[in-house]
Amino acid sequence: MTELQVASPTVAPGRLFGVSLGPGDPGLITRSAWALLQRRDVVWTYPVRSLRKEGYALDIALRAGLTLPAQHQPLLFPMTHDVEKLARHWLKAAEAVKALLATGQDVLFLVEGDASTYASFCYLARVLRELDAEAKIDIVPGVTSFNAACARLQMPLSEQDDTIAIVPAAYGIAAVERMLDDFDTLVLMKVKPLLDDLIDLLERRGLLPHSRFIEKAGSPVERIVHDVAALKGSKVNYLSLLLVKNPNRERGEIIRGCRKKTTIELEEETQE
Ligand SMILES: C[S@@+](CC[C@H](N)C(=O)[O-])C[C@H]1O[C@@H](n2cnc3c(N)ncnc32)[C@H](O)[C@@H]1O
Repeated sequence: MTELQVASPTVAPGRLFGVSLGPGDPGLITRSAWALLQRRDVVWTYPVRSLRKEGYALDIALRAGLTLPAQHQPLLFPMTHDVEKLARHWLKAAEAVKALLATGQDVLFLVEGDASTYASFCYLARVLRELDAEAKIDIVPGVTSFNAACARLQMPLSEQDDTIAIVPAAYGIAAVERMLDDFDTLVLMKVKPLLDDLIDLLERRGLLPHSRFIEKAGSPVERIVHDVAALKGSKVNYLSLLLVKNPNRERGEIIRGCRKKTTIELEEETQE
């Protein structure tokens, strides 16, 4: 008698979604993200800095009134500059997600702010692709911390021909100072460790009146500080940033390629 050959059922792997939740106000969760978060047949994963802490992204989802699905898993992304330690944790997180996807389930990775902006999702997606070039990955974009900050502070990010730089302040004071010469608006992220030095720089450059600080924008414990100098010597939360405008910036000539000429400019041209 020939043995009956039973083919083992192959499960199509699931898809990973980087789900941006905005910086803290549940009202800033997009409709696309919201629709995904209603699904109960998915696994929620979310970044934590320590396995004893809940994580800010999950906190945003829970404050929005969403409930965890039956399957959920924190993924550890420690705060460290130790590149080997970071690489180990990114790999561990990507392996965990790969194993979940292999069961055929879709996996949501919750992201604070926008998933493409300084987010642990970027590392997760990259390492997952290294493990499996065929991995299916989607990104739901979201509101960044600095877009929300501009709205809360009623400070335009950019007007007309303004230049903008979004900079992790960790580059140091000299780098930030150089950028003041080239950009009308600086968004200084991750300011916590350098805040006092940044305040000194802003004072020296006469820019304190044009600077604003915001912590945990959009959350119930949001803090806005207009008098940035008053923060000197105090401790701030990691989730804080500075918006700095430089009204004294010297601008070069603007090539008016995409701007309509004024009647006066046109008249001047015909007279030449
Ligand atoms: C790892 S980055 C995350 C950026 C985030 N993905 C985004 O789209 O804005 C963390 C830095 O973003 C800024 N940040 C994030 N959320 C914030 C918030 N709710 N309020 C103020 N700053 C925030 C802080 O400068 C913080 O150090």
